[in-house]
Amino acid sequence: MGIRVWRRLGLILLLGAIALSGCEKKEEEKTSIKVGVSVYDSHDTFLAELMSDFNKLVTRKADESGVAISVEVKNAGWNQSTQNSNAEDMLNDGCDILCINLVDRTAPTAIIDLARQKNVPVIFFNREPVEGDLDRWEHLYYVGTDAGQAGCMQGEIAAEAFRQHPEYDRNADGEIEYVMIEGESGHQDAIVRTEVSVSMLVDSGFKVKKLKSAIGNWLRPQAFTKMEQIIAECGDEIELVLANNDDMALGAIDAYNSAKIPMEDRPVIIGIDGTDAGVVAVKNKEMYGTVLNDKEGQAEAMVNLVYAEAVLGDVSGIDFTEGRYIRVPHSKIVGE
Ligand code: BGC
Repeated sequence: MGIRVWRRLGLILLLGAIALSGCEKKEEEKTSIKVGVSVYDSHDTFLAELMSDFNKLVTRKADESGVAISVEVKNAGWNQSTQNSNAEDMLNDGCDILCINLVDRTAPTAIIDLARQKNVPVIFFNREPVEGDLDRWEHLYYVGTDAGQAGCMQGEIAAEAFRQHPEYDRNADGEIEYVMIEGESGHQDAIVRTEVSVSMLVDSGFKVKKLKSAIGNWLRPQAFTKMEQIIAECGDEIELVLANNDDMALGAIDAYNSAKIPMEDRPVIIGIDGTDAGVVAVKNKEMYGTVLNDKEGQAEAMVNLVYAEAVLGDVSGIDFTEGRYIRVPHSKIVGE
């Protein structure tokens, strides 16, 4: 056979291979998938609401696409090694993709290694792995928000309140005496929201004085106990309470209720999240305002990413904020 015949044969084989790989791509699209989710604490109000939205949106996606999508949710109960076992069990159960709400955001290695061995993508959400961990494999993602934006909006709500109502400066000393109730230490949202909300107030031209700060670990009962002590110590000196989330702002409100302090003698209380109970408190004017941590938007971003990765095997249609991060924007909720 001459060289030209061999060339032609080569070309035919090449075209055949391209055509086959095209067919293979189609075959990769799945008609049923299993999603494994592990949350750090299934009793966390914000996460419970986010997961309820996630489940609703999964059902909608399955109905629209005709792909059967089953979801298995496990509770890590604040324990990273429990979460590592959750992930291992879900991988052994044949999950096609994992959604992990890390207990310890500095410790994703075990899960990344297990998932990578099985070639199963991982979407981390709400509790952000430290920089660099997401670069360890191309099928790792993060869905959350920009913590600085939440802090900034909380500071803006406070600035606006004191601008519109100079009488909120109860002792008229030209300074805002405030209490900060912080979420779990080490959590990106607690660190950044705490810092940015106050610097926003200062940048808006207000003088501020921190009376007390306390860690409430995101939890309403813990914030209640801490705030009871703070009210006992600082009483009506307090002009503003900034809480890193709505549950802790509600805990502060509980403390004012339990101390039977009338509404007109209470400080401005501002939360973050826009949980169902948080929004009710804003409507009732118990909470001055809150920042919407868009749980539905985050759940929707997760569902779209699950579908793109695990069903289509193609994430080119996903709008990433940066790299493989999706950050859903916040907005302000104020009673007035
Ligand atoms: C939310 C908190 C929640 C925490 C859990 C934060 O983004 O604002 O309400 O408890 O995430 O990781």
